[in-house]
Amino acid sequence: MEIQITKGDILESKAELLVIGSYQGESMDNNFLTRLDDLLNGKLHKYAKTQEFEGKAGQTLLFPAADAMKAEYALVVGLGELGDLSEENIEGVREAAGAVLQIAKKLGLSTISMELFGEDDEKFDAFLHGQALGEALLLADYEFTTYKKTKSKVKINNIEIVAENGQDARKAQRGVEKAIKVVKGVILARDLVNTPAQDMCPEKLSSVAREIAKESKGKVKVRILDKEQCLKKTMGAFLAVAQGSDSQPQFIHLSYKPVKAKKSIALVGKGITFDSGGLSLKPARSMETMKCDMAGAASVLGVFSILTSLEPNIEVHGIIAATENLLSSKAMKPGDIVEASNKKTIEILNTDAEGRLALADSLVYASKLKPDAIIDLATLTGACVVALGEEISAIMSNNAELANKLIRYSSESGEKMWEMPLEKKYRKLIESDVADLRNISTTNYGGTLTATLFLQEFVPKEIPWAHLDIAGPAFAERPMASYIQKGGTGFGVRTLIRFIEGK
Ligand code: BES
Ligand code: MG
Ligand code: ZN
Repeated sequence: MEIQITKGDILESKAELLVIGSYQGESMDNNFLTRLDDLLNGKLHKYAKTQEFEGKAGQTLLFPAADAMKAEYALVVGLGELGDLSEENIEGVREAAGAVLQIAKKLGLSTISMELFGEDDEKFDAFLHGQALGEALLLADYEFTTYKKTKSKVKINNIEIVAENGQDARKAQRGVEKAIKVVKGVILARDLVNTPAQDMCPEKLSSVAREIAKESKGKVKVRILDKEQCLKKTMGAFLAVAQGSDSQPQFIHLSYKPVKAKKSIALVGKGITFDSGGLSLKPARSMETMKCDMAGAASVLGVFSILTSLEPNIEVHGIIAATENLLSSKAMKPGDIVEASNKKTIEILNTDAEGRLALADSLVYASKLKPDAIIDLATLTGACVVALGEEISAIMSNNAELANKLIRYSSESGEKMWEMPLEKKYRKLIESDVADLRNISTTNYGGTLTATLFLQEFVPKEIPWAHLDIAGPAFAERPMASYIQKGGTGFGVRTLIRFIEGK
C-alpha cells in the first residue's frame, strides 16, 4: 500500500473513492462539503439528515459519485468533535482514516483519495495529522493471515492524501514517513502476540531479538542468557517460573547505544509466552487468550525493530525474561520460597502471579544498568481489566515527571493510560510470615496496586520507574478502534517511540 501526499483539489481526484471529512456539530457548509453537495444536487445534506449523520468519529455517508466527478464514490467521514487541544481531535482523525480503509476494502476498491482533514482549523498541525492518518491507514490494513489457507484478495494499492497548501503537504509528508516507520514496529508486536504459543516459545522470542540485532548492522546488540547463566546471576524468581516448562528460559538484553547519547532508558517487557497459571491453574476460559502474556515483550521488540530506522539520540535497553508458565512435577508450588537476584526472598502463594516473579529479576537487571528511567510493560493483572476495562492501561510510577510525560505522549498516540497510586499503606498486604515478600496480596482487592508495590521492591528509589499494566489493551477480544482489530494490538509501541524521540 502506497501513501502519497499531493497538493491540489480533492474534488478533482481520479481515485475510485474520494473522501471528505466533517467535524461533529459542524453545519457541513465548509468549502468542500458545499461543493460536494452541489455536485450531488443537494443529496449530501438530505442524506445527512435521513441517515442521522452527525460527524461522529468514524461515522460515514457513502454516495455514488456525480457524473461530473472522476471518482466512482464519494464518502463523507466524521472526524468527531473539534477539540481544544490538537491531540484530542487527532484520535478522531485516526478513527476516520481507519473507517475509510475498511469501507474501501469492503467495496473492493484499490485507490483512495482523501482530504488532509482539518487543514482549515487554526490549531492544525500538518505533521501530527499526517502521522495520524498514516498510522491509522496502515494499521487498519493489518491482518494476521499466517495460519489462514483462504486469504482475502482485496488489496488497496494507492492512497493519495490531498492538501490545499503546499507547506502543509510537505509537513504531512514527513508525518506519513514517520508513521510508515513506526507502524512496522507495531505490526511486529501484533504478529508476535497473535502467533500461537506453540510457535512463540521463549527461544523464538530470542531468535526475533537476534534477528533485530542482525538487521541493525551493529547498531543494536543482543545478549541472551540461558538457564545456567541466569542461575549464575541468581535469578531465583524468574527461574522458579521457568521450572515447570521443558522449554529453555531465555533472558534477553537488547541495547542501542548511539555515541553521543546523553540519556538512557531501559524498557522491560513481560515475556511469558503462555500463562496456564501453573499449579494454581487458570480456568479454561481465562486461558484462551494467554498466548498474549508476552505482549509487553512484543512491544519492546517492536520498538527495537524500528530504532535503527528512526535513529533517536538516546541509549535504549530492552530486557525480557522469557519463559512459559506451565505445570509439571518440577513446577513451582504454592508455599515455595525463592530468592530473587537482589537477595529478597519471596513466598510463592499463587503460581499464577508469575509475571511479577519474572519481572522482579528483569527489574534488578535493568537497575544495574543505571538508566535514567525504567519503563516496564506487562499484562500483569486481571484486576486491572476489572478496574479500567479492556482499552485502558494503568500507569504507576515513583516519579511524577516520568508518569506525566508518558501520559502526554499517550494522549497523542491514542493509547490510553490512567494513573493509579503506588499506595504505601498497601505495602503490608504483600508481607510474608516466612519470607521478605509474598507474591499475592492477603486481600482480594486492589490487585493491580499490590502487584505494582511488589515490583517496586526490585527498583532502587533513585531510578525513575513507570509500570504499565497492559492486561486490558494488549489483546483485543473485540475490535478496539477502526484501526485496531481483534487480537494483538501492539499497545505501547506508538507511545514509547514518541517518548524516546521526544524532548
Ligand atoms: N497474565 C495474567 C494477567 C492477565 C489477565 C493478563 C487477563 C491478561 C488478561 C497474570 O499472570 C495473572 O494470572 N494474574 C493473576 C494474579 C493473581 C493470582 C494475584 C490474576 O490477575 O488473576
Ligand atoms: Mg498468571
Ligand atoms: Zn501472566
